[in-house]
Amino acid sequence: MSLVILLSIAFSCYNLITAAQPPFKQSEASALCNSGWWPPSVTGNTALPYYAWPGVWCDTSRSVKEIDLTHRIGGNLSNMNFSLLPNLTYLQLVHTEMAGVIPLQICTLSRLTYLDLSNNSLAGKLPPCVQNLISLEVLRIDHNQISGSIPPKLGNLERLTNLYLQFNALSGVVPLTIGRLHNLQSLLCSSNDLGGSIPLELENLTKLNVVDLSCNNFIGPIPSFIGNLTSLTRLYLQENKFGGFIPPEIGNLMNLTILNLQRNKLNGSIPLEIGDLRNLEFLDLSLNNLVGKIPLELGKLIKMRAVDLSSNVFTGPLPSSIWNLTSLNSLSLQVNKFSGSISSAIDNLEYLIELNLSENRFDGAIPSEIGNLWGLEILDLSSNNFVGKIPVELESLRWLSQLDLHNNSLFGSIPALNSNSLLYRLNLSYNYLKGPIPKNLVAAFPDTAFIGNDDFRRSSVILHMTVFIPLAAVFISCIVIGSCFLFQRATKSMPIKTVQPETLEKNGNFLSIWNYDGKIAYEDIINATEDFDLKYCIGTGGYGSVYRARLPNGKVVALKKLHRLEAEDLSFDKSFRNEVKHLTEIRHRSIIKLHGFCLHRRCMFLIYEFMENGSLFCVLRDDIEAVELDWSKRVDLVQDTAHALSYMHHDCARPMVHRDISSNNILLNSKMQAFVSDFGTARLLDRDSSSNFTATIAGTYGYIAPELACTLIVNEKCDVYSFGVVAMETMIGEHPGDIVSTLLTSSGEDIMLHKILDPRLPFPRENSVARSIVLIVSLALACLSANPKS
Ligand SMILES: *[C@@H]1O[C@H](CO)[C@@H](O)[C@H](O)[C@H]1NC(C)=O
Ligand SMILES: *[C@@H]1O[C@H](CO)[C@@H](O)[C@H](O)[C@H]1NC(C)=O
Ligand SMILES: *[C@@H]1O[C@H](CO)[C@@H](O)[C@H](O)[C@H]1NC(C)=O
Ligand SMILES: *[C@@H]1O[C@H](CO)[C@@H](O)[C@H](O)[C@H]1NC(C)=O
Ligand SMILES: *[C@@H]1O[C@H](CO)[C@@H](O)[C@H](O)[C@H]1NC(C)=O
Ligand SMILES: *[C@@H]1O[C@H](CO)[C@@H](O)[C@H](O)[C@H]1NC(C)=O
Ligand SMILES: *[C@@H]1O[C@H](CO)[C@@H](O)[C@H](O)[C@H]1NC(C)=O
Ligand SMILES: *[C@@H]1O[C@H](CO)[C@@H](O)[C@H](O)[C@H]1NC(C)=O
Ligand SMILES: *[C@@H]1O[C@H](CO)[C@@H](O)[C@H](O)[C@H]1NC(C)=O
Ligand SMILES: *[C@@H]1O[C@H](CO)[C@@H](O)[C@H](O)[C@H]1NC(C)=O
Ligand SMILES: *[C@@H]1O[C@H](CO)[C@@H](O)[C@H](O)[C@H]1NC(C)=O
Ligand SMILES: *[C@@H]1O[C@H](CO)[C@@H](O)[C@H](O)[C@H]1NC(C)=O
Repeated sequence: MSLVILLSIAFSCYNLITAAQPPFKQSEASALCNSGWWPPSVTGNTALPYYAWPGVWCDTSRSVKEIDLTHRIGGNLSNMNFSLLPNLTYLQLVHTEMAGVIPLQICTLSRLTYLDLSNNSLAGKLPPCVQNLISLEVLRIDHNQISGSIPPKLGNLERLTNLYLQFNALSGVVPLTIGRLHNLQSLLCSSNDLGGSIPLELENLTKLNVVDLSCNNFIGPIPSFIGNLTSLTRLYLQENKFGGFIPPEIGNLMNLTILNLQRNKLNGSIPLEIGDLRNLEFLDLSLNNLVGKIPLELGKLIKMRAVDLSSNVFTGPLPSSIWNLTSLNSLSLQVNKFSGSISSAIDNLEYLIELNLSENRFDGAIPSEIGNLWGLEILDLSSNNFVGKIPVELESLRWLSQLDLHNNSLFGSIPALNSNSLLYRLNLSYNYLKGPIPKNLVAAFPDTAFIGNDDFRRSSVILHMTVFIPLAAVFISCIVIGSCFLFQRATKSMPIKTVQPETLEKNGNFLSIWNYDGKIAYEDIINATEDFDLKYCIGTGGYGSVYRARLPNGKVVALKKLHRLEAEDLSFDKSFRNEVKHLTEIRHRSIIKLHGFCLHRRCMFLIYEFMENGSLFCVLRDDIEAVELDWSKRVDLVQDTAHALSYMHHDCARPMVHRDISSNNILLNSKMQAFVSDFGTARLLDRDSSSNFTATIAGTYGYIAPELACTLIVNEKCDVYSFGVVAMETMIGEHPGDIVSTLLTSSGEDIMLHKILDPRLPFPRENSVARSIVLIVSLALACLSANPKS
């Protein structure tokens, strides 16, 4: 079989070469033909001259000038006879799954100005003969498995402006000859195995704009000549072994926007000159051994959006100037030895989203002005010496999702944080708090959120439970019970958060990210996933594949890469943007948070919060994880899902039907808490999304309401049916399949609960849990009624 195919390729190439149309470069045609880079459908099409092949551009004499392939080829780089392509100036083979080594023949391309072999599976070394590529301006071999050292002869490429070596297995040192690359603007070496110190020879490369040496084994001090590289806008030295102090000369880098020195061995204090970095937006000095006070001068950096000084040995009170950093989204000072009180001027930081001061020696009262930080989501003041009452003003923080005040000396009563349905993490333990715990907090948080305080009582209701459900109970309408018991209505119409999104629009790339600390760029995402390499893929669904990405700031997000069917359609892009903008405004503690999205001519993806434990579907099919998901977690899971659905159906500004509730779309975080994913995705990808009633089927087989399959009418009842399937599946540990119809038709008989519950878990002993299980099973059966009206 394979022999036949081989012969037919050879035959069509032969045809092509002999059936020449003048003027004709036979040598080039045979080089392209024999490379195996184009499929037989191209090479065998004799009507198509080689210079019209996809990805091939020729000069006026029809000699190959550019090759630009970005699709999957899976070929071998060595199969192209480069010496037959003397006029090639541009060679881009990105994400082609090309294997093999970089062939020596490539060095004959003396006219090549642009060589991009990134995102492939190339191994072996970077051959020293690259010095012959004397016209080269851009050299990209990043995201491969290239090993060995950086050849010193690279220094001969004096026209080089961009050198991208990141994400390979390069070792050794940065050769001194790098100092000869006077035109260099970008030097990216991140995530290799490089060592040694930064060579002095770098000092004259004053055109350098981006330097990224992060995630290597570099040692020695950060050289003071760094201050001569005045064009620098981004400097990434994190995750190395740099020691000594931060050179004061760094203050010369007036155009610097990002300075990341995280996780090194730096000591000494922050130089006062840092105050000269007027354009700085992102400063990360965390996880070093830095000491001393924060200099007053830091307060001059008014463009700053994220400051992370955590896990150092900083001391003293915060300088008053810090409250002048009015653009801050995130301030992380945890795990230091800061002292003093927090100024009431904190409410200058009106865009603050995250504040972590935990594990310091702060004292005094918690300023009530924190209540004015209307966008605050994370507030951690734990393990300090704060005294006084918890300000009632915290009640007005409607986006607050995490509040940790444990291990302080707070007294008085606990304010009712009840208007706040987004709060999902709360710890008030180890203080001197008193009085009743507000009811809603009792219901939502475990005892350990309140332990170690003075005299608290939690009321608990114990009810008797039977393991037999009389079937009559089942016929109560799902909706009715739902709104009485399971569905606790959240406050009506949430206001839209107006933090300005960071938007980048460039060369048809559109990236928009909301509410995110630190800069995050399209490149960061592509870098973090090695351009959506399969090894980062964590799941595939109807809409596309999901990838896990660790961003440069250390945060992990999930990327849903959507099938890009609508390329180049501007009206689609516009409706997509509107729709996705709307989705980012959904805020519910059990709905996965959408951080942003990207529209690009090559891909389109959504950026979500990452859920460590994957989907409910997978957890239930894994015997170990299924046991970890014990009864009380399962009850919570069903309840949270119900809350999320109720919110989307009834309580949010623009009600929305999910259309694809299934155990694949219920995701679990590290604590096995449930979050509904994919709200709105069906709509998003539906061209005709103006109407809910002309939907194509977006659901998953086995979860689709019977009436939808017949009539294609979408309304919230479809979600109710699918929810019933999921709830049942959660209780019995597998897709209910036929069990449901058996149960629904065995009218008049009692259902033996212990016969259907997931046998991998011990039978529920706690009464309250058992009671909830009975209720869930009966509700689930009611939801599964084939008649949508009931
Ligand atoms: C590539 O082409 C040159 C010039 O025609 C020839 O000498 C050489 O043998 C070819 N190399 C391979 C590997 O085919
Ligand atoms: C292409 O290369 C050939 C051989 O090196 C040369 O004769 C020809 O002039 C080149 N064409 C152009 C447009 O540079
Ligand atoms: C690529 O081709 C070269 C020469 O044709 C061969 O030596 C090498 O094993 C091939 N590599 C792979 C990964 O196929
Ligand atoms: C940098 O340039 C200066 C002035 O041209 C020269 O004196 C110095 O030797 C150069 N430094 C290195 C490391 O090449
Ligand atoms: C580097 O900057 C310092 C002043 O900060 C200057 O004295 C020195 O000459 C500069 N070095 C080079 C090579 O330009
Ligand atoms: C700094 O940025 C400004 C504005 O982009 C630019 O005009 C200036 O040349 C830059 N300075 C250096 C030293 O590159
Ligand atoms: C700071 O770091 C340098 C280099 O690692 C070391 O030689 C020096 O002793 C350190 N200083 C202090 C005070 O720890
Ligand atoms: C904060 O900014 C204001 C107005 O720009 C200025 O007057 C004040 O001196 C600054 N405070 C500090 C402590 O730098
Ligand atoms: C604050 O920092 C501490 C110490 O690094 C960390 O354990 C805690 O999770 C952080 N708080 C929040 C709410 O992220
Ligand atoms: C409370 O804070 C002190 C001092 O910051 C720390 O040593 C202790 O471990 C903390 N205890 C708890 C329970 O977090
Ligand atoms: C609150 O913090 C205390 C002390 O670290 C811990 O024991 C307890 O488990 C925490 N409770 C919650 C709900 O996180
Ligand atoms: C290759 O992938 C990395 C990240 O995965 C990305 O930064 C880079 O832009 C990709 N290269 C191209 C040319 O798309």
